[in-house]
Amino acid sequence: MSAKNMTIQLQVWRQKNAKAEGKFENYTLSNISPDMSFLEMLDMLNEDLIKKGVPPVEFESDCREGICGTCSCVINGQAHGPVRGATTCQVYMRAFKDGDTLVIEPWRANAFPVIRDLVVDRAPLDRIIAAGGYTAAKVGPHADANAMLVSKPDAESAMDAAACIGCGACVAACPNASVSLFTAAKITHLAKLPQGTPLRDQRVLRMVDLMDQEGFGHCTNIGECQSACPKEIKIDAIALMRREYMRALSRS
Ligand code: SF4
Ligand code: FES
Repeated sequence: MSAKNMTIQLQVWRQKNAKAEGKFENYTLSNISPDMSFLEMLDMLNEDLIKKGVPPVEFESDCREGICGTCSCVINGQAHGPVRGATTCQVYMRAFKDGDTLVIEPWRANAFPVIRDLVVDRAPLDRIIAAGGYTAAKVGPHADANAMLVSKPDAESAMDAAACIGCGACVAACPNASVSLFTAAKITHLAKLPQGTPLRDQRVLRMVDLMDQEGFGHCTNIGECQSACPKEIKIDAIALMRREYMRALSRS
């Protein structure tokens, strides 16, 4: 027997643009199936608002299956909501109870200005990747399989770090709005692979310096980032990034 449909109170952050003052608006939404995804619930809210002549709530989404990293909101104070290891699009309404109030906000960080409602500008993440998140491998016929051996522990930690989808939840969850977990994931991914070796020092120096220039805060080892990360990337990556940075500095 399927569970009963729910009525939910919503407090949604509405803001026209980065310069406008934002505020919470209250909405009541009924007949929500517990099997509906959180984004489907927002779709339903928007259909309702459009019918009433109210501008719909802007939010980002693309894959709706935890891959692209575009969906992003803080739900009741938690980046990506209450489900561990899940993106906003992977949260289902059964995570909440009939009559619950959901407070829905955009990522809060100076480096991520609000574009509209729940949509923020995450271009700083792209610029950090552009500063060093690439390899110097020449193009051409691909090398024979296993021509470049990688140990199993290195391959596994590179793959774990490569799971980062660039959502920015680590920044939103951090009281300092530090982007260290994101940057460390990119650096770990390439530092563990032979293809990443040629640009290793340049990569970490450029990417870490850019974190400051983009206005992100400093990491003080609080660990909220790893709790919020939908890909469960561990804070150990930040320790590796620091070692990489010190190593590069000593060689420069
Ligand atoms: S480290 Fe985790 S929380 Fe941060 S951007 Fe990558 S996937 Fe998102
Ligand atoms: S919409 Fe792609 S990760 Fe949520």
